[in-house]
Amino acid sequence: MHVIKNNMHHKTIIEPFRIKSIEQFKLSTIEERTEYLKEAHYNPFLLTSDQVMIDLLTDSGTSAMSVDQWAGIIKGDEAYAGSRSWRKMQEVVQGLTGFEYILPTHQGRAAERIIYSLLGGKGKTFISNTHFDTTRANIEFSGAEAIDIPIEHATETDWIHPFKGNLDTEKLKALIKDKGASNIGAVILTVTNNSGGGQPVSMANAREIRSICKENNVLFLLDCCRIAENSYFIHHREEGYEDKSYKSIAQEMFSLCDGAVMSAKKDALVNMGGFLALKDKALADECTNILIITEGFTTYGGLSGRDMEAIAIGLEEVFDADYLTYRMKSTAFLGDHLSAMGVPLMLPIGGHAVYIDAKLFYPHIPVDQYPGQALVCELYKEGGIRSVEIGSVMFGKYDEKGKLVPASMELVRLAIPRRVYTQSHIQFVIETFGFLLEDREAVRGYEIIQEPKFLRHFTAKFKPV
Ligand code: F0G
Repeated sequence: MHVIKNNMHHKTIIEPFRIKSIEQFKLSTIEERTEYLKEAHYNPFLLTSDQVMIDLLTDSGTSAMSVDQWAGIIKGDEAYAGSRSWRKMQEVVQGLTGFEYILPTHQGRAAERIIYSLLGGKGKTFISNTHFDTTRANIEFSGAEAIDIPIEHATETDWIHPFKGNLDTEKLKALIKDKGASNIGAVILTVTNNSGGGQPVSMANAREIRSICKENNVLFLLDCCRIAENSYFIHHREEGYEDKSYKSIAQEMFSLCDGAVMSAKKDALVNMGGFLALKDKALADECTNILIITEGFTTYGGLSGRDMEAIAIGLEEVFDADYLTYRMKSTAFLGDHLSAMGVPLMLPIGGHAVYIDAKLFYPHIPVDQYPGQALVCELYKEGGIRSVEIGSVMFGKYDEKGKLVPASMELVRLAIPRRVYTQSHIQFVIETFGFLLEDREAVRGYEIIQEPKFLRHFTAKFKPV
């Protein structure tokens, strides 16, 4: 049985590891950062990492590896065919997912490209609680459409629900009926729901989706890159799971699906990697053909032996109860403190990140002057903290008259790299928000002065209004 240890007398959540190797970063002043930001055209994606003190841009590929993983790196078997490291990764992924056919890829979107190019095409529809942007892009690139059906109210930041990442099953039934079951490419459940605020999905929801998919003979896939974090929420929030281990909860969720796509850059605690895992041999064979043509031979895909070794080890470590407790409590620590200070957040706090509602933080900045971008810039200037706007810079579109059609939310994401920052770093982030709260009214918005046609947030240039 699974026991969660409890430091009875202590309130402080300590990192359950010692730091053996460090990466120095340079402390900078507000004046220096103001200059760096100007040079980067007020787009933190254009800053160099050396100009950043606390990098909360993403939790993807930014984990610190353990001594066991680094030892595995040395042991990595780089054989082209039949690598020992591959067999180790295959065994771990099979054990976790229960799927027989495992295809190694260089990251999540490579697995997405393989499967969605096969299942997609004109006339096909994919349905998800929320497609992550690379998932949507791969589906749409194939000519198919991608429809998001999170549960009602999921996009309201102050609406509290234990499983706000759930998919709306009534809408799912209606959509399958409307589109015709044979036109559905797949139902994709993203756990946790990254674009929806890192919110978890319940086992009950997954079970219901499974039964709807089974009834209609529709493929059910899991986008499982944060499956361990999702399992933590199920253990602590869903009835009947309080005595189950995090790993067995994950295994149960996989058992409901027909396959899974994983970006190992998240919950496999590595810097690069991914895989596609499938139950059906015929589908796996077709995917394998594309894998060999575009990624690599079946026993390495897009990875080197050492990567596969580190993934195998990371996928075991991530389910350690002490690690997961520390991980989830430290995200909540940041969120709870910010919330108590009056910073408007996406609630409840998700697993890998804290999302700030920038429209409420800077109510005086109109959406066409990008309040999220303003917050991202202030956070950097004040604290050297890099975050990402998930609002109208990222998702805004223009109508035929060239007027901005804003995104549904103006969020700023503080994503927490795994095992990288300590509590004092996080306290520094909290303190920075204290300063930002003090002179909110003085902050102005931004206008875009140059932008590419697609994915403009990466390279757009801005000017203060
Ligand atoms: N699915 C989800 C839910 C993701 O969050 C990501 C990546 C991917 C798929 C694609 O994986 O990057 O390995 O190709 N999310 C990162 C982020 C980029 O910052 O949230 P990838």
